[in-house]
Amino acid sequence: MTNTIAIGIQWGDEGKGKIVDLLAPDVDVVARFQGGPNAGHTLVLGDKKTVLNHIPSGILHEDTLCLIGNGTVVDPKRLVEEMDMLIEACIPVTERLKISERCQLILPYHRSLDAAREVAKGKAKIGTTGKGIGPCYEDKTARRGIRLVDLTSDDLDERIDANLEYVNFMLVEYLKAAPVSRMEVDAMLDLARERLLPLAADVPLILQRRIKAGDSILYEGAQGSMLDVDHGTYPFVTSSNTVAGAALAGLGVGPGQVDAVLGICKAYTTRVGAGPFPTELYNAEGMECPSGKHMAEKGNEFGSTTGRPRRTGWFDGVVVQHAVRINGVTGLAITKMDVLDGLEEVKLCVAYELDGERLESVPACCKQLEAVEPVYETLPGWSENTFGATSMEQLPANARALLKRIEEVCDCPVTMLSTGPDRSHIIHL
Ligand code: IMP
Repeated sequence: MTNTIAIGIQWGDEGKGKIVDLLAPDVDVVARFQGGPNAGHTLVLGDKKTVLNHIPSGILHEDTLCLIGNGTVVDPKRLVEEMDMLIEACIPVTERLKISERCQLILPYHRSLDAAREVAKGKAKIGTTGKGIGPCYEDKTARRGIRLVDLTSDDLDERIDANLEYVNFMLVEYLKAAPVSRMEVDAMLDLARERLLPLAADVPLILQRRIKAGDSILYEGAQGSMLDVDHGTYPFVTSSNTVAGAALAGLGVGPGQVDAVLGICKAYTTRVGAGPFPTELYNAEGMECPSGKHMAEKGNEFGSTTGRPRRTGWFDGVVVQHAVRINGVTGLAITKMDVLDGLEEVKLCVAYELDGERLESVPACCKQLEAVEPVYETLPGWSENTFGATSMEQLPANARALLKRIEEVCDCPVTMLSTGPDRSHIIHL
């Protein structure tokens, strides 16, 4: 296995956790480069479901070093809970995990701001995960963020005081919300000092040494390309770059240290939170198309971090083509193929129409994307059960035809196909 970036190329929840977990035994290092506890990577071990928010999905594998890069934002409380959950399951997490000393810390006031801003936005809310992601990245860019390494700094007290003065003014005066106490912040900082600081490391140095020694690296993305702060459906996006390019800046490696980009997407599309979704069929707000309901129910489409019901719709080839371009995707991993079993027909969006004009790419303007009409190709569905299939021969001809058409429309080969939640439910192509 070479050095590969594995990323989601729709609106998140593409099944990255399973794919990374599958690839992890063949690599030496798995490294996260952006996002934080907004991510929820679900792994299934036997009959036990494990959701990881910060820790790279390779942690379950002996001999795999897991790195959390500088591009991520870390909630100390949640990360410690995750570590404890794994320790309880006898996984020696502290031996396998290193955290960049340059990571930004999510502190209690980031969560308060996230929640209060969403309330203040009313109907125009983004539908964030409420984990403090946006405010934390905002502090990073404004150069007032607190990094793991800063826990040892003698001006930390002063900086926290200044941050709290500003944040509490915003919370109380402007957002009419409760202030955050210094005690709450200190408790979080103490926890980070005690449990996370011992794992702090110079991640770029580790990576350079490993790469020089011939080790292979898996760069693990979070969220999806359509949630990227530059390339996604702005402003209905997360606050980090989620594209493949972010792996370089978010870990401190160069472009020559990447050999392949695996784009992970579902055989249909889902989205949580607000924002445009051209091929949407079904949502909790009253959109009720039976095929979309089928996807939501059979696909168990509820957020792994927030439990929110996901919006569902047909595979959007325009979105995936866009993602193939902006990420330089070299192979597609398609997940949840089996969820389409039993549908009489399946649709594939191949272009959009806007004011009588055909669009082949995703418009940058959200209002335009909201107004487009998908142009569909309709293919016959299949009644056979593909759950757990492990070879292409086990798939009905109509399922194979859909995959072929996806490859053509997205101009990218399918290299992996997931047919169920278990590690064994996979076809390598
Ligand atoms: P935030 O990242 O919590 O600020 O949320 C911003 C937007 O990204 C919201 O629409 C969230 O629902 C969405 N989002 C963030 N993380 C994920 C994820 O891991 N999967 C799917 N959607 C996500």
